[in-house]
Amino acid sequence: MMNIVSKSGSLAPYLKPSTQVVASGLKAAAPAVAVAQKAPTVPTPITPMTGYSLAKSLPKGATNTTTVLSSNIQVRFAHTDIQVPDFSAYRRKDTLSPSSKNADSAENRKAFSYFVVAGTSMAAAYSAKAVVSQFISSMSASADVLALAKIEIKLSDIPEGKSVTFKWRGKPLFIRHRTSEEISREQAVPISSLRDPQHDSERAAQPEWLIVLGVCTHLGCVPIANAGDFGGYYCPCHGSHYDASGRIRKGPAPLNLEVPPYEFQDGGILVVG
Ligand code: FES
Repeated sequence: MMNIVSKSGSLAPYLKPSTQVVASGLKAAAPAVAVAQKAPTVPTPITPMTGYSLAKSLPKGATNTTTVLSSNIQVRFAHTDIQVPDFSAYRRKDTLSPSSKNADSAENRKAFSYFVVAGTSMAAAYSAKAVVSQFISSMSASADVLALAKIEIKLSDIPEGKSVTFKWRGKPLFIRHRTSEEISREQAVPISSLRDPQHDSERAAQPEWLIVLGVCTHLGCVPIANAGDFGGYYCPCHGSHYDASGRIRKGPAPLNLEVPPYEFQDGGILVVG
């Protein structure tokens, strides 16, 4: 079977010939002609043609305008009018030209690259901050514990000259409504004479109110209010005397009574904690 294929203009405008040689397992039958008086000859096997052998069989520089083959050849016509998608509208102008180099357009894309990197970094930093803050806040005290951490006291219920004891965070809390005489006396004490030097104004935000923890700084006993040599507090355990500013004046206690954090609010409300 022989096919003659021409690449001239006689073909349809949208068809282009392509040649494919299909190897055939069949071998040509050797002529079974017996020749008398001659020695029998062995027929030469015919090798099926392949693309490689086809190319080798052509003389150098020859075209395949006309080719005669002695094997099975299929000539197929491939469509050349297939529409391919055009992505030019989605491509950067820098890269539209097929001859443009990456180095040329990279300079123009730096701003975009920096923007992407900066945006990603900010998002990562914000996410990390949220995770860390949530993790840390999970270890803080719950709302019910915090509610017990503060105590509100109505100061108008404490008469002048009296010391009232409250319970705050499991400890006794002394709130003393000082008289003007106590205030002037404590403010006149020279701090150089004190074991734990502190001026009265450092311990009382408002002079008429003294707020201290009722825990002796010696070994933790609870002092007695309005007792002792200095008219403040007296610890009977080992005989420590505190003045009306809660400062240690006599006895084994090394430090003044502790002043907790507090603040005065509107309406005569004291919030401790
Ligand atoms: Fe107060 Fe010792 S515990 S003086």
